[in-house]
Amino acid sequence: MVDQDAVRPVAAGPPAVPSLRWDEPPEGPVLVLLDQTRLPGEEVELVCTDVPALVQAIRTLAVRGAPLLGIAGAYGLALAAARGFDVEEAAELLAHARPTAVNLGYGVRRAADGYRRALEEGKGRDAAAAVALAEARALHREDIEASARMAEHGLALLGGLLPGGGYRILTHCNTGALVSGGEGTAFAVARAAHRVGELRRLWVDETRPLLQGARLTAYEAARCGMAYTVLADSAAGSLFAAGEVDAVLIGADRIAADGSVANKVGSYPLAVLARHHGVPFVVVAPTTTVDLETADGASIEVEQRAGSEVTEFPVPDGTGVMGAGGGISATSAGSAVPVAPAGAQAYNPAFDVTPPDLVSAIVTEAGVLSPVTGAGLAELCARSRQV
Ligand code: MRU
Repeated sequence: MVDQDAVRPVAAGPPAVPSLRWDEPPEGPVLVLLDQTRLPGEEVELVCTDVPALVQAIRTLAVRGAPLLGIAGAYGLALAAARGFDVEEAAELLAHARPTAVNLGYGVRRAADGYRRALEEGKGRDAAAAVALAEARALHREDIEASARMAEHGLALLGGLLPGGGYRILTHCNTGALVSGGEGTAFAVARAAHRVGELRRLWVDETRPLLQGARLTAYEAARCGMAYTVLADSAAGSLFAAGEVDAVLIGADRIAADGSVANKVGSYPLAVLARHHGVPFVVVAPTTTVDLETADGASIEVEQRAGSEVTEFPVPDGTGVMGAGGGISATSAGSAVPVAPAGAQAYNPAFDVTPPDLVSAIVTEAGVLSPVTGAGLAELCARSRQV
């Protein structure tokens, strides 16, 4: 359950927003999430004391983004173990809370495997729970490290692709500190460019229907002091046509063995636009997002979400909380305004798949892959697993 008394304001601070943290108050361990459904209006923490609360937070996107879902899944498993819940049931619930981001299953599996291994070695349940927590903490640390490496590799890649500097980067969805233990994936590269004075502008797709760009990326860009502009997703074409985009940087939820990239719906049209206009289309993701078990793009399960997210606009209440009717928050008191006739059907896939031939490069913590091929991807993953 969510401990309502523990939902408390977070002080506004420097850009590194803690998107998730493990805490051990006297009443027992908890997983504390920055509730992303309430951004940018309010920074409040959501305290999960059990797995169903975390599953709900994952489904409502209070916690979201591939790398962070992996970390949350691992801590969720550790939470179940520490509180004496059925770990196998917890693993099942958590791993299937959302289908597309491969990191979620990876994080859950990693903590669960640690727990099971400890039991097999004859350790007690408390010791096994401690192993699950250690795995979650290790994954969290590795993600911070991977984020820093991706930013380095991505910045070097931009330097090679765009020797003139002064990058105008278009991004989609949210890929910053909110989705990571570190500074994120694609956004971390933009942030690195900003640090060295080479980011001229970050173009932020609003990212309909749940507005991860307008609500979350713009929030992070503002905190980092970047020059940024929010645009309606449908305005991207005219921006390319005007020659205002030097590169597209996006993250990924799952990269199949052939290099196909599943990411927030609206990514694929950007890849088509980028190819038409001769602009590099770069995917930034840790190797934990690569799923060599999934052969190709057609085999990636794409999450379908409620049609109401398309047919209604969420409206913030006085506190900035977005309406529950819009599907953004299950905990909020905001409302939703219908924008389609009652009963209208809606098509609402959460992700789309970009084929490898439209991807100029994949930037990972282990290095950059360009051109994108299945063989190259397998080699990159093998290298990262040796490190
Ligand atoms: O539905 P969301 O908000 O979880 O979707 C997130 C994205 O599509 C991100 O671009 C992706 O997870 C990459 S984040 C590093």
